[in-house]
Amino acid sequence: MVRQPTLEDKFSFGLWTVGWTGTDPFGGPSRPALDPWEYSEKLAELGAWGVTFHDNDVFPFDADDATKQRLLGRFKEATDQAGLVIEMVTTNTFTHPVFKDGGLTANDRSVRRFGLRKVLRAVDLAAEVGASTFVMWGGREGSEYDGSKDVFSAMERYKEGLDTVAGHIKAQGYDLKIALEPKPNEPRGDIFLPTAGHALALIAELEHGDIVGLNPETGHEQMANLNYTHALGQALWSGKLFHIDLNGQRGLKYDQDLVFGHGDLISAFFTVDLIENGFPGHPDGPRYDGPRHFDYKPSRTEGMEGVWESARACMSMYIMLADKAKAYRADARVQEAMEYAGVLDLARPTLEPGETVADLLATDDGFDPEKAAERDYGFVKLQQLALEHLIG
Ligand code: GCO
Ligand code: MN
Ligand code: MN
Repeated sequence: MVRQPTLEDKFSFGLWTVGWTGTDPFGGPSRPALDPWEYSEKLAELGAWGVTFHDNDVFPFDADDATKQRLLGRFKEATDQAGLVIEMVTTNTFTHPVFKDGGLTANDRSVRRFGLRKVLRAVDLAAEVGASTFVMWGGREGSEYDGSKDVFSAMERYKEGLDTVAGHIKAQGYDLKIALEPKPNEPRGDIFLPTAGHALALIAELEHGDIVGLNPETGHEQMANLNYTHALGQALWSGKLFHIDLNGQRGLKYDQDLVFGHGDLISAFFTVDLIENGFPGHPDGPRYDGPRHFDYKPSRTEGMEGVWESARACMSMYIMLADKAKAYRADARVQEAMEYAGVLDLARPTLEPGETVADLLATDDGFDPEKAAERDYGFVKLQQLALEHLIG
């Protein structure tokens, strides 16, 4: 039996996850749409700690101010009563056809101005409900046809938009950080900021990049055939891992948004190992202590019972993997195998303290490449031990 989730686990869910009615490009909804507070009440009952939403998960795109306030108030009341934290808020700049060519990078300047206003209002809303992270997923920022976009201008406008939003956060004194969410494609043929690395590179060009970091999603890195755990590792190393979207993906295909662990299970194991146990060679290194946020879609084949079952599955999958990752690290055979593999040696700087390039070049330390090439690393044994813990 897997233990029940507790508030200490910091599990959170997007309203749009359990709220997905199953609509896809080929078919209509396969489930009813509930009111936002019905989802949050049920999530709390299942053991979630937090909830997140897009502006338009709570009120319609064309809602007037009174309607917005009423629906938001009702939702906030429900989350307060359920003891749920609203940890993150984001903006929907992708559903309405006005955003068909993007929000911040649409070729049409009037659309960009409208998009920026919508994002700024959602930032105010995020501060109002006490969120600590503002996610920006630019799903429509991109193109299908290379001739349709001046990429230089698109990067300029992305930068302008992000700096405007981050500048507003600072000017208002909000305790809020922006987390960019990379994705390679879908809905656009090619989305700008396709991977964590691209997003980090854009952040480095920002004026207010200090409050801008990443929200990497498991499936999005995997859609680009990349290693999600490495993305998290590099973001952590850069001090930029502000938030995470956990889910499952099986290979290079459409964005599956499966239950966490229902895609690449071995990768999920090492993701949880990194989050829970940190870098093996750096016990005092950077750690992620933010929400364990799930951004998945309960499969369209499931009814409402299956929706709650899949939310439960995300959490219990994480709990199981965390237990196994703890046992893996504590296993004396694993520690020995890590030692043998040199995993911990990598933490040691290559140069001696104060050693210059001239010193390095002048040193003859008797290194014999032929001899060194004979070294056995034992990586396979180490991996097999991981697998033993995972499925043994
Ligand atoms: C996707 C994305 C979105 C974003 C969300 C936050 O489906 O590709 O994961 O779910 O995370 O819209 O803005
Ligand atoms: Mn996704
Ligand atoms: Mn996501």
